[in-house]
Amino acid sequence: MDNQSMIQRSLQHVWHPCTQMKLHESLPLVPISKAEGVWLHDFEGRRYLDGISSWWVNLFGHGHPHIKAALVAQLDQLDHVMLAGFTHEPVVALSEKLAQLTGLGHAFYGSDGASATEIALKMSAHYWRNTGRPEKCRFVGLAGGYHGETVGALAVTDIALFHEAYAPLVRLAATVPSPDARTAQPGESPADVAGRAAGALQVWLEQHHAQTAALIIEPLVQCAAGMAMHDASYLRLVARCATATRCIWWWTKLPPVLAAPARCLPTSRPGSGPTLFASQKD
Ligand SMILES: Cc1ncc(COP(=O)(O)O)c(C=O)c1O
Repeated sequence: MDNQSMIQRSLQHVWHPCTQMKLHESLPLVPISKAEGVWLHDFEGRRYLDGISSWWVNLFGHGHPHIKAALVAQLDQLDHVMLAGFTHEPVVALSEKLAQLTGLGHAFYGSDGASATEIALKMSAHYWRNTGRPEKCRFVGLAGGYHGETVGALAVTDIALFHEAYAPLVRLAATVPSPDARTAQPGESPADVAGRAAGALQVWLEQHHAQTAALIIEPLVQCAAGMAMHDASYLRLVARCATATRCIWWWTKLPPVLAAPARCLPTSRPGSGPTLFASQKD
């Protein structure tokens, strides 16, 4: 197998995600035959530094001996059993660890980040339905927010490129200003921007909380919006207005920063942390 024939086979049979395929008429795909540590190797002896950890999913390097050994041991012991009606030690141990890290209760498992968003959307609307408030079924997110590309997740993703082609399918959520520190006016600190954004959220929630199931935010940094950084005080202000208006709110984040937001909010204080935490790329 050489690079060119792998590229040709791929172009004939694979749709590549987040990709305008026309681009690959001028910019060739990178064909990969194997991976080791931080390196990806093609079919002709060239190697590439995997600087984005294969889209953030391979944080400890390719073929890490500890992860490989754990995967093999798990396959030998129990390859898979459904969680409906069954349980097992690894899922219980992971859920216990997640509860300890986030200060939250039960874990529910999906398959990827977008399905984590779908689950959180459904869970929060379902909570209000079960508590006699079915009209609380709308959502609000931050300007420039990204939460995945399934149809439900697109509704809370405020990036036109991703959802405009599917507009007829999507019931768009409301958006409130982001505490993006880059939007600071002259003389404003990141904390001032956070205060201004939290004020706008408070006004919005006071008007719309009766129909709002939940607020969804990427805490501290909105990656797809170009690494928009937030002052940590925003999370405390959000906790206060979400609690005051009885809105569920949740964070979505990648596992590497799982512990960081948890440190920003003392989750031991009731009402100070999010109601749900959706995690992905694990
Ligand atoms: C904050 C956030 N939510 C959701 C997603 C979607 O995750 P996935 O690509 O696993 O569907 C991402 C992807 O990077 C993300 O950064």
